[in-house]
Amino acid sequence: MYENSRLIIDSSNVPEPHSVTWRSPSNIAIIKYWGKYGVQLPKNPSLSLTLASSCTDMRLEYSFNENNPEGKIDLEFLFHQEENEAFRSKMLDYLNSLLPIYPFLKQLSLKIQSGNSFPHSAGIASSASSMSALALCLCSMEDNLFGTLKDPDAFDQKASYLARLASGSACRSIYPYAAVWGETTHVQDSSNEYAIGFADQLHSTFKDFHDDILIVSRSEKAVSSRAGHALMEGNPYAEPRYTQAKNRLTTLIGAMKTGDLETFGKIAEDEAMTLHALMMTSNPSFTLLRPDTLAIIEKLRQYRTETKNPVYFTLDAGPNVHLLYPGNIVHEVRAFIEEQLAEHCEDQYVQQDWVGEGPEEI
Ligand code: DP6
Repeated sequence: MYENSRLIIDSSNVPEPHSVTWRSPSNIAIIKYWGKYGVQLPKNPSLSLTLASSCTDMRLEYSFNENNPEGKIDLEFLFHQEENEAFRSKMLDYLNSLLPIYPFLKQLSLKIQSGNSFPHSAGIASSASSMSALALCLCSMEDNLFGTLKDPDAFDQKASYLARLASGSACRSIYPYAAVWGETTHVQDSSNEYAIGFADQLHSTFKDFHDDILIVSRSEKAVSSRAGHALMEGNPYAEPRYTQAKNRLTTLIGAMKTGDLETFGKIAEDEAMTLHALMMTSNPSFTLLRPDTLAIIEKLRQYRTETKNPVYFTLDAGPNVHLLYPGNIVHEVRAFIEEQLAEHCEDQYVQQDWVGEGPEEI
């Protein structure tokens, strides 16, 4: 929808070198995106909470590059102040794929400096925060150069669209508190091409809400999300799964509007288990859960039975457990984590996070 663009810098009106900086958070999906088609389009709609403490800071410097005879994108990339060729080459592939949208990228010299608020290889996926930060930087650069994204809604929509092309889940990080990505008749203006904000429909319970991430393993996962999505192609449960996700989303939206924590928690946990069941029923099958993941889940269930506290879990495509609970029980839950759950985490590491206000330009 933004392709075939004519955004080209007029060489008689060359811009001054400039920079933009964004801080963008990660997000945690309650209804999971697992399975895609076409160019990064989801097989089912998903809904996520936007996090606050797990984020990426990214600075993009750009200047007009007069001598670029080969017409290649000129990119320097530093991660935590150090060159990182693997990340640079990924980013370069992505920027090249954006040329139909941003043909002017070839006219610039770009320098990106990026860093995460959470320890490197903490087992926390950084693609949502880093790719949303990059998309936001690109939109700010576009607006500075051409004045084409003055309208805040148009800005967010384009940032979400660009983020999706880099990593599907990243398109949901653009919005405060919560976002929906993927067409559903229950959310007006929802789209497969970009996410939209869901904050204005959210009960206040979910605006003061925690997600403590229990890091069972810091290791890189054996099967990437990209490969996992692709394996949905031959999965015999794929079609019923997409229907199930749509139905669960309808129920979840109702619960998140009214503040019904029990229904929210049931769906969050069912979605986590379904995601991993889909991995186990792929061909070839794979398992990302670890014994400690299951031990945490068992202890949590027991804790809930004993205390009646509304603490629920969800899982990403990995062994780490996200504990979801409202702000009014934070002290009790943190004590429970310390006393009973931290022992199941690598180096006892827990990333404390909560629902936040979304990205900010800094
Ligand atoms: C399990 O967004 O990482 O976290 O689009 O291939 O980059 P790509 O996949 P990615 O998949 C996320 C999968 C998930 C569920 C979710 O966040 O919805």
